[in-house]
Amino acid sequence: MTDFDALRGSSAVVAGASEGLGAAFSERLAARGMNLLLIARREAPLQETAEKLTKVYGVDVRCLAQDLAAPNLGEVFREATADLDVGMLVYNAAFVPMGPFFDTSDADIRQMMQVNMFGLVEAVRTVVPGMVARGRGGVILVSSLAGLQGFPGLAGYSATKAFIINLGEALWYELKETGVDAMAFIAGAMPTPGYNKLFEQLAPGGMSAERAAEQALSSLGKGPRCIPGFVNNLVAATTLRLLPRKHLIPLLARASQNMHS
Ligand SMILES: NC(=O)c1ccc[n+]([C@@H]2O[C@H](COP(=O)([O-])OP(=O)(O)OC[C@H]3O[C@@H](n4cnc5c(N)ncnc54)[C@H](OP(=O)(O)O)[C@@H]3O)[C@@H](O)[C@H]2O)c1
Repeated sequence: MTDFDALRGSSAVVAGASEGLGAAFSERLAARGMNLLLIARREAPLQETAEKLTKVYGVDVRCLAQDLAAPNLGEVFREATADLDVGMLVYNAAFVPMGPFFDTSDADIRQMMQVNMFGLVEAVRTVVPGMVARGRGGVILVSSLAGLQGFPGLAGYSATKAFIINLGEALWYELKETGVDAMAFIAGAMPTPGYNKLFEQLAPGGMSAERAAEQALSSLGKGPRCIPGFVNNLVAATTLRLLPRKHLIPLLARASQNMHS
């Protein structure tokens, strides 16, 4: 398990920190004594979170209003972290275009790939070498149960989330001897602002973002992936794994019809 005492006083970079799971990660990391660099597009909710966490936990919090679909992210991350001792990276931001793949605009497909994959890769490649040099750190790449198989209605999103799972698991192994713990965090349903825009009802296994973030942090260093909650683990180990794909995928297609249009 990751030694958070050793990371106390270093900085955690949270990408996609203005609300939902990212805000919950930020709070749980501040509670562990980590300073924060919070990144998202909207400045106001970032500042609000920063003020709250500084007041409650006495940590330093910096905010960066930044679109993670921008093309020059390597440069942006390098500049923003140049004077920081980064001990943790949580890449949580995601863009979720919903609906049939061929009804999705080119612009949305591009944005999804930028935010969900290229931004994540740039963040990892910018901050992890410093962690390796210091011999300590943690990397949480936020994925989804939707990344464990194709998901009609969320086809592109589920593909980007599969990318994140495979990258996170492989990095767990590649970094294992360096003192840096990497992990794919395979979240299930959480009633966040993003989720509530897409779905009318909380799916089985649903849990608060705060509980999910806490489970992720306490699982870091224990293995290549973490799925939070008993029901989500059960679903991942049974329905998603054992049901033949030709039966599973139509079931998911039906579930995606519950999405807000
Ligand atoms: N909620 C669920 O049920 C669920 C289930 C499985 C997996 N997940 C995963 O958990 C993560 C968080 O989900 P959530 O439900 O908390 O999402 P959310 O409520 O929509 O929050 C997404 C966060 O990412 C930021 N973000 C989105 N696009 C961005 C961009 N272009 N540039 C910078 N920041 C951007 C948003 O901030 P701004 O809008 O201010 O930029 C926000 O802080 C995602 O990776 C999602 O795939 C969620």
